[in-house]
Amino acid sequence: MDAVMSSSNGSVKNGSTTVGTKHHEVMHNLGDGVAAVKKIKMDSQSQQNVQLLDGKTFKDMLPWSENDTGVTDEFIGEMVNILKNFLHETHDRSSKVINFKSPDEILKELDLDITEHSTELHELIDVTKKILDLSVKTGHPRFYNQLFAGLDVTGLMGQWASATANASMYTFEMAPVFGTIEKLVLKKMRELVGFKTGDGLLFPGGSISNMQAMNLARYKFNPNMKEEGLFGCPRLAVFTSQEGHYSTVKAAVTLGLGTKSVKKVKTDSNGKMITEELRAEIIKAQSHGERPFFVCATAGTTVAGAYDDLEKIGDICNEFGCWFHVDGAWGASVLFSKKYRHLVKGIERADSVTWNPHKLISVPLQCSTLLVKDEGLLNACNRADAKYLFQKDKKLYDVSLDTGDKTFQCGRPNDIYKFWLMWKAKGTNGLEEHVDRAFDNSRYLAEQIKKREGFELLIEPECTNTCFRYLPPSVRDMPDGPEKNARLSAIPPEIKKRMTLKGSMMVGYQPLKDRVNFFRMIIISAAVTHEDMDFVLDEIERLGKDL
Ligand SMILES: Cc1ncc(COP(=O)(O)O)c(C=O)c1O
Repeated sequence: MDAVMSSSNGSVKNGSTTVGTKHHEVMHNLGDGVAAVKKIKMDSQSQQNVQLLDGKTFKDMLPWSENDTGVTDEFIGEMVNILKNFLHETHDRSSKVINFKSPDEILKELDLDITEHSTELHELIDVTKKILDLSVKTGHPRFYNQLFAGLDVTGLMGQWASATANASMYTFEMAPVFGTIEKLVLKKMRELVGFKTGDGLLFPGGSISNMQAMNLARYKFNPNMKEEGLFGCPRLAVFTSQEGHYSTVKAAVTLGLGTKSVKKVKTDSNGKMITEELRAEIIKAQSHGERPFFVCATAGTTVAGAYDDLEKIGDICNEFGCWFHVDGAWGASVLFSKKYRHLVKGIERADSVTWNPHKLISVPLQCSTLLVKDEGLLNACNRADAKYLFQKDKKLYDVSLDTGDKTFQCGRPNDIYKFWLMWKAKGTNGLEEHVDRAFDNSRYLAEQIKKREGFELLIEPECTNTCFRYLPPSVRDMPDGPEKNARLSAIPPEIKKRMTLKGSMMVGYQPLKDRVNFFRMIIISAAVTHEDMDFVLDEIERLGKDL
């Protein structure tokens, strides 16, 4: 059933702004409290603006036309309106999280074709609107699918500002302020970790940060490898847990060590590395003539959200002379929280830490850091001394401010400003509140799961990952065994399909070790409330009770 709503000038209704005069919306009721809000008429001011852009192309805007800045401003204004609408719809619980279309439908509904001719500006605006309409709203309070979520306004503005300045971070010359900010933020992060000395840099994602850590460890183990490669080198062995992120395996492949070099240490029923098994695996590798050199502990595993025992793993690394890396891509942001930082006790003993602010604290993608205890190592390991870029005789500043040779990248985007802006806006206390709120929601959800018939909590949450199963009435009384497992395994994919087509929420699922498919809720966004947690359980029941 459709109901037409109207709102007056400049008002905000259900999170949907009106920029100019009156506008109307149609609520498409999807049942079960989920409705999609669709604007059917643009406000008249906005419509006039789009008309002003009729017949205009890129040639009528900066930098091609320096005279007609009016068109440039109109175009930007219209684009920004679309983004603002997206932001408000994202936070409107009655809007869909996902408007799922098949690849064929996407190609049919959107004019994505690129031709040799220019496209008029108003068409670019129209297609952008449609593209966003078919894009997943990862900032929606009902998005729990991935280890990133939330649409933070200060972070978003930081992203826009960085994109506008479009600096590359390799030299102070290119990024004087952003480079200074990067240095400052990395130092504050190292202080939170507890490193008294050190260095750090941003990399394009946690996988690359982990690989860079492995690369540093290898360089430290044998600096000659930088010149000689792996020739004549003993077979190196890497250790991470069975539930550690797959990027460790990919890093070993990329660095030429091979998948067989990665020893996956057994985990306990909560997902933590069994430290005695680590010791046993190291001794086993030694007995096979391999050289253990890198241990990757995980602070917040991808599926279960488990925190490895960093103190015990630190002891083992000391004993066997291994580099101690902590993959805190997901879970290290507990360092902001007085209540939860005990989960990473011992992290200060690590040689390196991967920590992604783009995960638990909602910094827009990407913002991934690698923090290193040894101050000169990033540079020593990666430097290639390109003379055209890192001139040693620069007259205006100390060339040690040029960070570009600390990485294998050349051009490097500014991923730090958005994080700095968020941290500046909220203060450390605000980030602590963000973390505590996400954790509180996960604990509330876990308690509700325990109380509800037909739901089973599989692991007591450590990070905000909440792993559970829904058993429809038809399987509840089945005896345990392969038949029941086959039924249980088929339930999450079917419920997932239904929630996606309905657009009501997004929750992931997977098997893990001997557990067949189950749901994994990831709670991050500051918009999420206890009521949303209740909604998730109600909705899963609604979608799956007939299975
Ligand atoms: C524990 C862990 N480490 C590393 C990564 C990789 O991070 P990114 O997606 O930024 O490459 C992930 C991704 O989810 C992760 O969960």
